[in-house]
Amino acid sequence: MTAKPHIAFKRLPVKIIGTGSYVPERRLTNADLEKMVDTSHEWIIERTGICERRIAADDEYTSHMGTKAAQRALESCGLTPEDVDLIICATVTPDTFTPSTACYIQDALGAKNAAAFDISAACSGFLFAMKTAVQYIGTGQMRTALIIAAEKLSTVVNWEDRSTCVLFGDGAGAAVLQAATGEEGEGAVLATDIGTDGSLHDLLQIPGGGSRCPTTVENAHERLATLAMRGNEVFRHAVAHMKESAQSVIERAGLAPEDVNLIIPHQANLRIINAVASRLSIPEERVFVNIEKYGNTSAAAVAIAFDEARRSGRFTKGDNVILVTFGAGLTWSSAAIRW
Ligand code: UT7
Repeated sequence: MTAKPHIAFKRLPVKIIGTGSYVPERRLTNADLEKMVDTSHEWIIERTGICERRIAADDEYTSHMGTKAAQRALESCGLTPEDVDLIICATVTPDTFTPSTACYIQDALGAKNAAAFDISAACSGFLFAMKTAVQYIGTGQMRTALIIAAEKLSTVVNWEDRSTCVLFGDGAGAAVLQAATGEEGEGAVLATDIGTDGSLHDLLQIPGGGSRCPTTVENAHERLATLAMRGNEVFRHAVAHMKESAQSVIERAGLAPEDVNLIIPHQANLRIINAVASRLSIPEERVFVNIEKYGNTSAAAVAIAFDEARRSGRFTKGDNVILVTFGAGLTWSSAAIRW
């Protein structure tokens, strides 16, 4: 059999032109958690780096947070919702199984020219969405993409399980991508990486509530539709895969570790962040951390951190920024950006 000819075409370079984020007002502190489960501020700080996390109001859904982050991202680059062709929302806590959360966000924004769908890649979802948007724009299929990561993890946390409930919070982040016209530079996505090891799906999961194990009157008390994690094992894989994935985009972007001005890792555990940075030979002052304020907001964590780092001037024009994430699946993802 003769091999099909490979069709080569010129890909358009893609850039990030805007970012935004949103976190709910209500703070849940370590002191509050001490009153709910057998834990202590000292244990949480020492083992995770988290001081407090944000919890959405009962009537504030994932799509509400995603919409606010998206509006801020559009405002930051002067676009209107009608300019958007594509909306991708990364979430593991959708408003409903169907329609997708991206559909609710499209409606709330009034982005009537956009196709919209969700991506499920857990904490790695924002950069899975980024890579997907890069493909659509790079091949000329879409002009303007809005990627959003939004999570209301407080609805899938078992508030009686101290080994997980101290870790997670709610929030959303977003970015706007377009084809780069003119000179290469500001916001250019230089390289992206995504990866998966589905054989380790049971290390971190929400086992119930789906078609494998629907919630029934009989099993409802078992809280199967909440997050379950084998933390130690996840920790080990997180450090190894985040290091490898970040290294691959650093190399493919033609950079050395000393060229990296800022690394923005998934905010799951300060000890994981420090271990990854140290293995990449990136010093502490070039690592962005906001875990103390929000805990682990899954897909939203790296998106919120990216927006906060940009708005606070932690990176500026010409800087090389590395985003790297890790999550359930197992999944991992990275992006190298020249701002
Ligand atoms: O976002 C997706 C990726 N997620 C991650 O990357 C998370 C990865 N894992 C982790 O961050 C850490 O494994 C945890 C923060 C979840 C746990 O930290 P650890 O140092 O691995 O603790 P451990 O699970 O080994 O537990 C150590 C001890 C245990 O007690 P014994 O058996 O030694 O007596 C736990 O029962 O700490 C106990 N413990 C707690 N104590 C006080 C567990 N949770 C708590 C708690 N407060 N909240």
